[in-house]
Amino acid sequence: MREWTREERYVALDMKDLGRLEELHKQIRESIWRCDYHVQTVTGLMGDTNGFSYFNNRWHLFYQWFPYGAVHGLKHWYHVSSPDLVTWRNEGLGIGPDELYDDKGVFSGSGYPEGDTLYLPYTGNHRDENWVRFPYQLLAWMDKDGKIHKQEEPLYGPIPGYTEHQRDPKMFFREEDGYYYFLLGVQNEQKKGRFLLMRSKEIRKGWEVYGELKVRGYDDFGFMIECPDLERVGDKWLLLFSPQGLEPQGDCFRNVYNNTYMIGNMDFENLEFIPDGPFRELDRGLDFYAAQCAGQKIWPERAVMCAWFGVSDYSYGPTAEEDYSGLQVMPRILTIENGELKQRPADDWKKLEGECAGEFTGSADVEMPRGAVIEVKNYNAAVALDLYGAEDHKGFTVTYDPEEKYLTIERGYMENQINTDYGTDRRVRLENGLQELIIFADHSSVEIFVNDGEYVLSSRIFPTLSENRFRVEQAGGTTTLFKAVRTVEDDFVICPAEQ
Ligand code: FRU
Repeated sequence: MREWTREERYVALDMKDLGRLEELHKQIRESIWRCDYHVQTVTGLMGDTNGFSYFNNRWHLFYQWFPYGAVHGLKHWYHVSSPDLVTWRNEGLGIGPDELYDDKGVFSGSGYPEGDTLYLPYTGNHRDENWVRFPYQLLAWMDKDGKIHKQEEPLYGPIPGYTEHQRDPKMFFREEDGYYYFLLGVQNEQKKGRFLLMRSKEIRKGWEVYGELKVRGYDDFGFMIECPDLERVGDKWLLLFSPQGLEPQGDCFRNVYNNTYMIGNMDFENLEFIPDGPFRELDRGLDFYAAQCAGQKIWPERAVMCAWFGVSDYSYGPTAEEDYSGLQVMPRILTIENGELKQRPADDWKKLEGECAGEFTGSADVEMPRGAVIEVKNYNAAVALDLYGAEDHKGFTVTYDPEEKYLTIERGYMENQINTDYGTDRRVRLENGLQELIIFADHSSVEIFVNDGEYVLSSRIFPTLSENRFRVEQAGGTTTLFKAVRTVEDDFVICPAEQ
């Protein structure tokens, strides 16, 4: 991929000249790695999930977006929406970097719906002429007609006592004390990642630093915490975050950066999160980061989560060569059951199952639909799946060994290899054996939901056209292969529709 200069990377979307962007879009539409049912970047580079929320009877999702190429350039928010978390529509530019406070990037933030307004707090990345960074917490909002506005005054300026790394506000309201809060990820002067809580009685002003949120029993989350999220799920709190700089531990934390969670209780008076359970990875695959739960008031017992199907500092070479990069994972429903986190695909996922391409017991070798949904019903028997295999080599493999109880994924056999410094396989031990897999394979991605919510493993792959076989060998159970239904149109929408 060609090198980009700073000048080339810090170019804002030019609404008056969309020709160059439309050309780029025409070119990437031809790519064999465009998806059938994942939210995928319209052009250029997609990063974190932003502003995820339920508002005006639709799900809204924004993503970090650099329009002009597969590099982390000047960040904008791009907007998509959905009635059911499965069918998505491109809405166009959400928020652009058009004022001093966000002139070097509209960084990540969240969505908080109240009345007929969807509040969108985010971090403005400002840099001065010496390229010194000044982070601002800013506010945008969407009105009931879908128009997005920006508040001129920042909610808060650079916070003393921390380095330039202070960002990604996740907003929520706490009825018990009548405060709006937001949780930020910050780096302290000793270069340690910390959580910081801000609060105010009003959304538009009056914000103050409430203090650092401590996590009982833990002091080290690496050098920075990105995209923190504090979510009430039933009567528990879920703390999700993307710490940078954790060391691998056995089968865990093997990606360059990982996305983690804890379940527990919040002590707002003493600013402490008290975990009930261990500190774990949210997803056990090779590509997953910056997860965010939707601001929503319809399901108090569940959180609805989405995430970037990628990790910062990784390169997604094959599509980057074609000047684009990035997907979002399938939105997930999170619940806490008997103290354990369950992650299931959005309720309407069955809509994605089109024509049945085969129901297999024993072994099979058939053509692999480029977009597919695969259901495996198993009763702790050995199973070996080979997705997008070629005549002479395997593709992405998923195997279960009932003796050792390991479920293993491996992408190292494929022709196109990415980020191999972090290994090509991942595995999880299934204490209670294997009962079920639901696999979403979509041209350039594989997500595996294990045992009705126990684990999820999400990985990017870039199969060539001759990697087109689906193979299964199983000692028991049934595997059903469906061709996927297309629920995401790959259309070029940049200007938000006039309401
Ligand atoms: C995480 C992140 C955020 C930041 C955004 C900038 O991937 O670094 O912390 O707001 O990306 O694109």
